[in-house]
Formats: sequence, structure tokens, C-alpha cells
Amino acid sequence: MSMSAMLNKEEATVRIRQLREIISENNRRYYVENAPVISDYEFDMLMNELSALEKAYPELVTPDSPTRTVGSDLDTSPRGQEARQEFEQFPHKYPMLSLGNTYDISEVEAFAERAARTLGKTFTFCCELKFDGTAICLTYRKGVLAQALTRGDGTIGDDVTANVRHISNIPQTLKGNGYPEEFEIRGEIYMPYKAFDRLNEERLRDEDQPFANPRNAASGSLKLINPKEVQHRGLECTLYHLLGENLPFLTHDEALKAAAGWGLPVSDKRKICRDIAEIEEYISYWDTERKALPFATDGIVIKVNELPYQKELGYTAKFPRWAVAYKFKAEQALTRLKSIDYQVGRTGAVTPVANLDPVLLSGTTVKRASLHNSEQMHLLDVRIGDYVYVEKGGEIIPKITGVDMDRRKPDAVVPVFPDKCPDCGTKLVRDEGEARYFCPNTSGCPTQIKGKLVHFISRKAMNVIAGDATIEQLFNLGYVRRPSDFYSLTKEQLLNLEGWKERSAQRFLDSLEASRKTPFEHVLFALGIRYVGETTARTLARHFKDIRALASADRQTLLEAEDIGEVIADSIIDWFSREENREEIDRLEKAGLKFSVGDENGQKSSSLAGNIIVISGNFSVSRDEIKELITAHGGKNSSSVSGKTTYLLAGEKPGPEKVKKAGALGIPVISEDEFRKLIVSGEESGQENMDNGEGNDSAPVQLTLF
Ligand code: IVH
Repeated sequence: MSMSAMLNKEEATVRIRQLREIISENNRRYYVENAPVISDYEFDMLMNELSALEKAYPELVTPDSPTRTVGSDLDTSPRGQEARQEFEQFPHKYPMLSLGNTYDISEVEAFAERAARTLGKTFTFCCELKFDGTAICLTYRKGVLAQALTRGDGTIGDDVTANVRHISNIPQTLKGNGYPEEFEIRGEIYMPYKAFDRLNEERLRDEDQPFANPRNAASGSLKLINPKEVQHRGLECTLYHLLGENLPFLTHDEALKAAAGWGLPVSDKRKICRDIAEIEEYISYWDTERKALPFATDGIVIKVNELPYQKELGYTAKFPRWAVAYKFKAEQALTRLKSIDYQVGRTGAVTPVANLDPVLLSGTTVKRASLHNSEQMHLLDVRIGDYVYVEKGGEIIPKITGVDMDRRKPDAVVPVFPDKCPDCGTKLVRDEGEARYFCPNTSGCPTQIKGKLVHFISRKAMNVIAGDATIEQLFNLGYVRRPSDFYSLTKEQLLNLEGWKERSAQRFLDSLEASRKTPFEHVLFALGIRYVGETTARTLARHFKDIRALASADRQTLLEAEDIGEVIADSIIDWFSREENREEIDRLEKAGLKFSVGDENGQKSSSLAGNIIVISGNFSVSRDEIKELITAHGGKNSSSVSGKTTYLLAGEKPGPEKVKKAGALGIPVISEDEFRKLIVSGEESGQENMDNGEGNDSAPVQLTLF
């Protein structure tokens, strides 16, 4: 890198420190948050710059430099993009390393030459697709899936076995009997494009942040709390690396063939290549053909095929010397911008959406792409008729990332962002610091109303079985104008709708009836308060326990809740300050919806309220059940012992580090029996609380404050 060669030692020291910070931050965003803000290519360029500087000044290398360590997916931060499990962690039997990667074919040639020089004999390469997902390590014992660990920091991984059991193509038991007694097989969990598109559509509809790409979606989904939810995400797995003691295979290819025979998902797209010419042929074939694959790939992995030679070449601290990854640059497509629509969302935000000449991009035909907001349109200097670059990734998918100015025609038209709502004609407003324009007519703009109704019944909100078309019908006939109207619909009214029959009407009414039992946190999400997504609604419900407390909370009180910042706090205050919203809550409450945390949430008592409990070891029931008990009794479970911890709940064989730390901090260590006694005695006192009128566990809440 020419730039680094120009730096003197002092400058290099500063730049190295800066690069390490930037790289660590981006590693965290990629591996932990699953929400990267820079492209893989930009990231790799930062790494290259750091490597070059460390090469020029070896005395500045430290063992914890990102050039020597693998990016960690272990979450050390208090918040993530969505609710995730705190997983038990286990050490890897063999370190889980990364791969050296390059975008430059001459570096692949250099890798092949280096291997040939070191080995000094004839050998072959096994070329494979580089699957763009999240790494997984499966252990099978006696033919049964025993454990699944994420890569973690390469040394210790998160135990995601419960979630992995819900990935349909991972067998719980192997076929036949020719497999070793115990072995590990590593691979990638990925999300096919179809499942990814479906998930993001759902997230956009629910105003949750969409995932930037299938890789982030896969990694986020693997760390969800609820294994059943994982099943719904449609993840798949492909395996590419068999490890174990005394395995009877001479080549990597043979090992994968055997694994496929045991019923494990192994890709059949690999190829044995004898020289660099064959490798290049494989690369160029897949550079085109991968676009038709139903899942994301980001390159090709080239491995020395003979296992004894792999052993001979060995590893650096971070990579195997027997493999390298050639990476493809992010896919872009160039197409013509035909027109721009301005769409109103359920919160009134107006988004410019580009209509494009259809173009193939990462496996799907793209006809529409987001232009984000007026500021972004201005920055891109985009005109109607321009040829624009479209990319999948980023906030809204796909998106326009640039304009081919060389192809701009003189008659290209400068777009005009409307000053009135394209639906109801109300003058648009833009709050200070907001890049987006909003239609302020929240209670009268038909698109916003319909959007709110669709959101209200959506799966993660009230989960009523009905589609957008039903809402359109119900709205157009004037039957439903606000969420509470759903609950006074009659069968006769439904039978008036075109295409409705007795059975569909009954199904819809049954679904509405069932929705009355929806837990408070989902009801709160269903209300559609701006910035209150699924996770925030859960936090608020757990913190405030009932709608009265939330509605009367002032700014300061709201800010005290975990992860609630000023923007969310102001939006909540604004929402509850509107009379129409308060009246609607009254109506929904009369319809029987839950507006407090109660039995429906599994809340059994508040005996552990205020306690932060760390668990370690094995119990008479699963660790998940213990965690559920803690929350059901009002406590909080945390993964690491700190000054805030109230108890360390130690089962059989607790982690020695946790016990030691608890001892050092003077935190009581309790057994499962003692823990159960705490809950029982608490159940009694919980009852007293309710009698005092202070408890809110199951008593119906009267909305007297309005
Ligand atoms: S082999 C010792 N083969 O890419 C490392 N990795 O960027 C052995 N990956 O950490 C890894 N497809 O998670 C291998 N066909 C493939 C792969 C593959 C995707 C991932 C893997 C690795 C990452 C490095």
C-alpha cells in the first residue's frame, strides 16, 4: 500500500491506533450487531492498510491487533439489533479460524505458488463456493447432533444447539453407520434470498430495521431467544470442513463425500483443480453463475485437497496456510430510472421509491429501489432518465447507490420532492434533525390509517389472520377506521364483503377473539407509536408494567428505562398527549385487550423484582427453564457476574471463573433449592402486594388517568 509507505514511524503509530479502533468498531457492528455500516470491500481495504503498516513497522505489531485475531460474534454490549438469547459459552476443541482473503487473482496465483514451493510435490486444490453466512461448528457423537457452537472469538463460541435443532436441513441423527464415534463438522448457516426477502418485508411492515443482507439476517436469527422463531426464519446450512481424531480420509474431498453420505448437507458445487488455470476457470464460471443461485456467495475458497499436505502447511495465528478466499466485489447493477413514487408509511414518513427498468441483481429481478429521503436524492444528484447503480444492502433493500453521469442525457429531469402528502394533500413537515418529510395528518390520511391497521393485526402485533386486501375492503366500506373497530365487527358485516364466506368470516372472528389474549408488550407494539418497534415495546412493557405508568411517565422517567433515548421518549410523550389516542386505548381496553403485564406473560410473582441473577452449571431442568423462572418472578437474568449481580445461582459444576468472581465481589452463591425457596416465599408476598393495590400482576387495570 503506497500510502502507508509514505508514513514515518510517528505517523504510522497514530494511523495504526486509528485503524485498529475503526476495524474493531466495524467488527462489532458486523459480527455482534449484524448491522454493518461499511461494505466488505471497504472493510478489507482498511485491514490491508493496517497489515501493510504493521509489515513496514513490525515493532508496532501487538498480539491483539485485528490482523492477528478473528472478529468475535460474542456480544459484550448491552444492546443488540433485536432480542437475543444470552448463550452459554464453550471452548472450541480446535480453534475456529478465518481465511486469508483477496480480491486480486494474482494473489491467488501467489498462494498456489507458495504452497507448491513449500510442499515440493504434486498436489491438487479443492475449489468451493464461499457461502455468505455465519460460521457454525457442529459436533456429532455416536451419530447424534450433540452441540452447535458459533465461531465466537475463535477460541470460545456461543452454544446455539437449541436454535440449530430448528434448521431443517441439519440432521439430528446421521444415516448409516460408517461415521466416526465423535467428530466436528464446520460450515455456514445462511438465509436463502427468498426467506430473506420475506423476513425484510415483514420487518419493514412492522417498522423494524430491515437486515442489511442475508448474512446479517442469518447471524441475527441464529441468536434469537425463541427456537420456534428460528424455525420461521428459514435458515439453511452447508458444511465444508470435517475435523476429528484419526479420521480415515486422505483428502478433503473424500471427507466431504463421506459426510454427504451420512446425510449431512454438503455442497456439490466443489471441484478438484490441478493448477491455477483450472482455478481461474472455476472462479470465472462462478462469478457469473452465482447470480442464479438462490443464496448469497461472496467468493471462492481454494483449499489444498490432500489432508497430510494441509497439515504440513499448517496455520498462522489467524488463517490456515492451506486455503485462501478469493472474494467477489458486491454486486451492482446499472439500470434506467423511469420515475419516482413518493410513498407514505404508517407513521407518515414519505419515502421516495425509484421505478427502474427491470434488472437482475443477486438472484432476483429488481424493479423498484429506495432513494431513502430528499437529502439522499439531492446528494446523489439523481435525475429521471439517468442510469443508476442499484445494490442490495444498506438500510432499505435494494437501494440506489450512484449515478452514471457519463450516460446522462440532456433531457434528464430533475425530480421535485412533493410539498404535499401524495395521498391526502396535507402540507408535509420536516422536524429538526430529521432527514425525512412527514405527513402530519396522522388521524386523517387514508394511507397512514390503513398502514396502522395493517400493522395492528400483523403477526408480531395482534397476530390476526388477514391480509392487506381485507384491510382495504374493511376500510373502504367504512367498517374499520381505527383498531378498536375490529372488535365490534359482526359476521353479517363480513359476509357483505366480496369473496367472503361463512368459513372465512368465522376464521377471522376467531382470530380476533384469540387476539384479545395478546400479551401487553405486543399490544403496545401494535399501537404503532413512532420508534416503538418490537424490542422497544418489550423493554417498555417490562419496565413500566402497565399502560397507566407508561402514559403518565415524564421525559426523565422514560429516559431511565433501558435503551430509551430522547427521540423515543419524545415520541411516546407526543403519542399519549393526543386525545384521540387516549380515547382509542379506552375503547381497546373495553374490547378486552391486555394493557398490563400479567399472567399472560408468564408473570407469576414479583418475588425476584430488582434482582439480577447470573446462572452457572447444570440444573434439574434446562437452563432456559431456569431463566424463564427468573423472569416469570420479576427478576433479571444476566450472563456475567458484576457489581450489579444480586445472586450467582450455581447448579452442578458451575463455571469456576464465575464462582471466583462472585466470591471476590461478595455476591451470595445460592443453590437451585435455595432459589426455589426464594420464589415460593415470594409468591406469598406477591399476593400481599396485590392486596395493597400496588401489585399489577393480574389485577385488571382501570385507565383512570385519562
Ligand atoms: S473453510 C480454517 N470453506 O468464510 C478456516 N470457509 O471469511 C476454514 N466460509 O470463517 C474455513 N464458505 O466462515 C471455508 N467453502 C468454505 C467457506 C468458508 C464460507 C466462511 C467461513 C470462514 C470465512 C472466512
